[in-house]
Amino acid sequence: MNLILLGPPGAGKGTQAKKLVVSTSMPQISTGDMLRAGVAAGTDLGKQAKEHMDAGRLVPDEVVIGLVEERLAQADCKEGFMLDGFPRTVHQAEILEKMLDGMGRQIDNVLLLDVDDEELVKRITGRRTCGKCGAIYHLVFSPPPSDDTCSCGSIGLVQRADDNEVTVRERLTAYHDQTSPLIDFYGNRGVLRKVSGTGKKADEVFEQSKKVLGLG
Ligand code: AP5
Repeated sequence: MNLILLGPPGAGKGTQAKKLVVSTSMPQISTGDMLRAGVAAGTDLGKQAKEHMDAGRLVPDEVVIGLVEERLAQADCKEGFMLDGFPRTVHQAEILEKMLDGMGRQIDNVLLLDVDDEELVKRITGRRTCGKCGAIYHLVFSPPPSDDTCSCGSIGLVQRADDNEVTVRERLTAYHDQTSPLIDFYGNRGVLRKVSGTGKKADEVFEQSKKVLGLG
C-alpha cells in the first residue's frame, strides 16, 4: 500500500505511523524527521529549513520535494510506503502524483487524522521524544517510565524546538491555510479515509485506522 498520513500538527501521525510500521512493515517517511536530522547535522538543507521550522512555517517546496524523491527511490519503498507530513500543499501533492506516475505507481489511501485545535495544543506542548529510538511520549496522555527516561533505557527525553504554544499556533494556521485543501484534493480522487481522534486514545485511533484502511 502507498499511504499518506494527513492531519494537523499533533494529530498523531507519528504515533500512528510507528504502530503501522510494526503491523505492516511499511517504511515511515517523515519529512519532519528528515528535516530535523538535517538541522542537527548542520547540512545546507538543514540550514535552509531551520528558520522556517522554528517560526512554524512550511519549509519551501523545493527543499522538501528533492528529499522525498530520493527517499522513494530506495529499495525498501518498492512494496509500499507511508508518507508522514508530505505532501503539505496542493503543489507538493501534484508533484508527488507526477513522481509516482513516472514509477507506474499511485497513492492508494490517505488517512486523515482529525483533531480539535485546542486538544492539539495540549498534545504538542506535552510531547517528549527519545533522541535514541524515536519513541513519542506525552507527559500526561502517554507518559514515559520516568520524566526523563525512555523505555529503551536512554536518558534525556527531548522537547522539539517548535513545540511551544506560540509556534504551535503558527503551525496550525499553516495547516488550515496551506495543507487542509488536500482534504478535497484527495477526496476528489476517492482515496481519503477519515478517522476522528478528538478525545480518543491512540490505541482506539489505531484500531479505527486499520479498519478504514482495510488492514483488519
Ligand atoms: P512535522 O515533524 O511533520 O510536524 P507536524 O506535522 O507539525 O506534526 P507533529 O510531528 O507535530 O505531530 P504528529 O501528528 O506526528 O503527532 P504525534 O504522533 O507526535 O513537521 C515539522 C515542521 O517541518 C513543519 O512545521 C515544517 O516547518 C516542516 N515540514 C515538514 N514536512 C514539510 C513539508 N512536506 N513541507 C514543508 N515543510 C515541512 O503526537 C503528538 C503528541 O500527542 C505526542 O505527545 C503523543 O504522545 C500525543 N498523542 C498522540 N496520539 C494521541 C491520542 N490519541 N490521545 C492523546 N495524545 C496523543
